[in-house]
Amino acid sequence: MDKQDIEKYKHIGKISKEIREYAKKIIKPGMLLVDIAQIIEDKIKESGVECAFPVNLSIDDIAAHYHPVPDEKTIASGLLKVDIGIHKDGYIADNAISIDLTEKKEHKKIIETAENALENALQLLKKNPTLHDLGLTIQKTIESNKFSPVINLSGHSIEKYKVHAGTTIPNYGNNSKQTIKSGVYAIEPFVTYGEGKIYEGNNGNIYSVIEFKSTRSPTARKILEYVEKKYKTMPFSYREIFQQFGPLSRLALKELENQHIIRSYAQLIEASHKPVAQAEHTFLKTDDGEIIVITK
Ligand code: CO
Repeated sequence: MDKQDIEKYKHIGKISKEIREYAKKIIKPGMLLVDIAQIIEDKIKESGVECAFPVNLSIDDIAAHYHPVPDEKTIASGLLKVDIGIHKDGYIADNAISIDLTEKKEHKKIIETAENALENALQLLKKNPTLHDLGLTIQKTIESNKFSPVINLSGHSIEKYKVHAGTTIPNYGNNSKQTIKSGVYAIEPFVTYGEGKIYEGNNGNIYSVIEFKSTRSPTARKILEYVEKKYKTMPFSYREIFQQFGPLSRLALKELENQHIIRSYAQLIEASHKPVAQAEHTFLKTDDGEIIVITK
């Protein structure tokens, strides 16, 4: 990682923070999820950057990977996770918050716990911890507040144009002796009232390309060209494809999926159907071992 890379990451991190704060300000109970998605996307565009994945708007027991369809009437409510990924020239920042939309603010403590678990892990980075140490810190912070970490969701390394690269940062002590090498990473504790496992539910209306190959259907071909130019292999939403290509989009995406050219992402749902809170920051570790939390 050279100086220029570090500057690019600092820049995208700063914008990521601005967009997160903007989302926090504008989201109110009773808004349609589609309107929230559109407002955040508009802000991203206005800021001169692009989505690295569709903004995830996941309510209650949906932990992640939900994005509304164009005509959806779902209203923001309960415990809402807003996970925002943006990039400029492939330099990605990944950043998430949880918002309590209940009248009685019943999720205050679980949200604070997710934030504290994240903060404790970030603080520990200075001591060159193993992945086990990081996971255990997250787990202990969560369990000491009588909640459960979601053990099959984890933080991850980030590479250029790649949101989820090779390394995972666990949300529990997993006995890994591996330490953090120089590079870019996201830490994202997920906390729940439930048992702390997620399963894959229905399609979350998010897709990504596995491999760019030729396909016969003209609409599918146009979609693929559009995605290759704008997102490469980063995730995109059905909603955007529908906005661009109209009612033939769902069928074309289905064809591309059947041909193993694209994949769809399932909603990630908590097994005991209890609400989940999330907090996330992206940090980089320089070649000198300096830790810079770019989204803070
Ligand atoms: Co992430």
